[in-house]
Amino acid sequence: MSMIVFRYLHFLGITFWIGTAVAVAVAASAPTPWESGIAQALRKVTLRVTTPAMLFAFAGGFGMLIPDFSETYAKQGWMHAKLALLLVLAGATGVLTGKLRKWAEGQEVSAKTFGRLAWVISILAVLIVTLAVLRPF
Ligand code: HEM
Repeated sequence: MSMIVFRYLHFLGITFWIGTAVAVAVAASAPTPWESGIAQALRKVTLRVTTPAMLFAFAGGFGMLIPDFSETYAKQGWMHAKLALLLVLAGATGVLTGKLRKWAEGQEVSAKTFGRLAWVISILAVLIVTLAVLRPF
């Protein structure tokens, strides 16, 4: 597959991954009764959009990374930092989907947890895009 296709997948994936993860976390941070069905609706968004979009972002990213890794990216500090932060971002997305699953099953999850996750995901996304575009080191 050509690089442009991987790039295209990368950006589409990032857009819907981060966009829906932050939107879902903000919506879930509002104190809402479980019976309203909002927990189940938000969980559907994470299953149908956020997780597949994350996989597209990864497929596109690795499609660009692997062919040029030893020649280019292995020597670039910004890419190492980006990869480390991405692991944290993917972990935070996993925490979000896990907490939503618990809430959608009727277990107690604090609204504050979702508010914090919205901040963590947003800040990580800003740091990663800054590293990828400015390549400061
Ligand atoms: C498994 C995950 C990821 C991998 C393996 C990966 C890898 C890559 C690679 C190899 C490039 C091409 C760099 C170049 O043009 O030389 C790239 C570009 C880019 N990535 Fe990622 N990436 C990942 C996730 C992310 C995430 C989560 C974000 C944003 C939150 C992101 C933002 C960007 C941006 C903005 C660019 C374009 C940089 C530019 O052309 O100026 N990436 N990525």
